[in-house]
Amino acid sequence: MFGIEIVGTGAYCPSLSVTNDDLAKVVDTSDEWIFSRTGIRSRRIANGEATWEMGAAAAEEALRSAGINGSEVGLIIDTTITSDFSTPSMACVIQSRIGAGNAAAFDLGAACSGFVYGLDAAKRYLQTDPELKYVLVVSNEKLSNITDYSDRSSCILFGDGAAAAVVTRSEKLYSSYIGANGNGAKFLYAKNHKVLHPFRTAETDSIETGEFANGSVFLFQDGKEVYKFATKALPSAAKKAAEKINMDINNIDWFIPHQANIRIIEAAAKNLGVPMDKFVVNIKEHGNTSSASIPIALHEAITSGQVKRGDKLCLVGFGAGLTLGAIITEY
Ligand code: COA
Repeated sequence: MFGIEIVGTGAYCPSLSVTNDDLAKVVDTSDEWIFSRTGIRSRRIANGEATWEMGAAAAEEALRSAGINGSEVGLIIDTTITSDFSTPSMACVIQSRIGAGNAAAFDLGAACSGFVYGLDAAKRYLQTDPELKYVLVVSNEKLSNITDYSDRSSCILFGDGAAAAVVTRSEKLYSSYIGANGNGAKFLYAKNHKVLHPFRTAETDSIETGEFANGSVFLFQDGKEVYKFATKALPSAAKKAAEKINMDINNIDWFIPHQANIRIIEAAAKNLGVPMDKFVVNIKEHGNTSSASIPIALHEAITSGQVKRGDKLCLVGFGAGLTLGAIITEY
C-alpha cells in the first residue's frame, strides 16, 4: 500500500491561558455552563505571537523530532484560516524562517478539516513526485483575531495554537476520505474587511445581503446547524475512509478528532460504536483551535506516550465550508 510515515511532530501553544472564569468577566456566562455544554475549561490565546511565528515554532520542533534540516523539506503546506497576510502565504513566510529554501510552499484553506486535507495532499504529492522526500504540514491558527468577544455563544469555544508534522512516503496502512458541502457555507463564516475606494458606488456588497447577511468580520456561526452537521460528519468521514480499505473501524487504536465540543466527539463515538477511551481528547485545555486542533492532539498523544509506533490512527475532522475528512494511517 502506498502510504505515509509521520516522522516528526511539533506544537506551539501560547503561554497565556484564558479560563472560563476569565471569560465570565467579559460576557454573561459561567464555568459551569461552558464546561457542561462543551467540555472546555480554558484555551490558549496569542499575546503578541503572529500566526506565522506559532507555525514556525511548531515546524522547527517537528524538524528536530524528525532529525532533518529545513533544507531537506521539498514542500510546505500550511492550513491556516487566520493568516497574518492576504499574501504572501504563511507557508512562504515559514519557509524562510526555518531555512527550507528548497521547498515549494502554499496555503490550503479547508478550515478545521485543514490538517486532514493537508496531510492527504502531502501523501498525493509524495506519491506522484519521486524527487520529493519530506513534506511539512503546518497548521497554525490565531482564532482570537476573528473571535467576537461580545458573543457568548461563540467566544467560549475558540483558542490559538499551532502544530506541524513532517511526513515521508512509506508502505504503511493508508486511507483517506475528504469531502465538502458548500450549501452549509452560510452556517460558519468570517468575512474579510469591507474596503472602501473612490470607484465604489454600490452601498452594499452582494455578500452583505442574502445568505451571508449575518455577521461582521468576526466568525459567525449557527451553532445548532454546525452541531448537527458535525455529529454526522465525524462518523461518516471515518467510516468512508475505513470502507475504502475494507477495514473494521474497531481495529483502529486511536481516533484523533477535531476538538470542537466534547458532546460532538461523544456523539461520534456512540454512532461508530467505539468506546470514548479510544478517542484522544485535549479540548479541556485548548478549546477549538481550528486546523491546529487535530495535530496538537496528535503531538501531545505522541509525546505523552499514549500513541506508539505501530498504532493505527484515524484523524478525523469537520469545519467551515462545510468540510469534512478522515485519514487512517499507522503511526
Ligand atoms: N453562557 C451561558 N449561556 C449561554 C452561552 C454561554 N456562553 N451561550 C449560549 N447561551 C444560552 C443561549 O442564549 C440560550 O439561552 P436561551 O435558551 O435563553 O435562548 C441557551 O444558552 C441555550 O443555547 P443553545 O445555543 O441551545 O446551546 P447549545 O447547547 O446548543 O450549545 C454551542 C451552544 C455553541 C456550544 C453548540 O451549539 C455547539 O457546540 N455547536 C457547534 C459549534 C462548533 O463546533 N463550531 C465550530 C465548528 S469547527
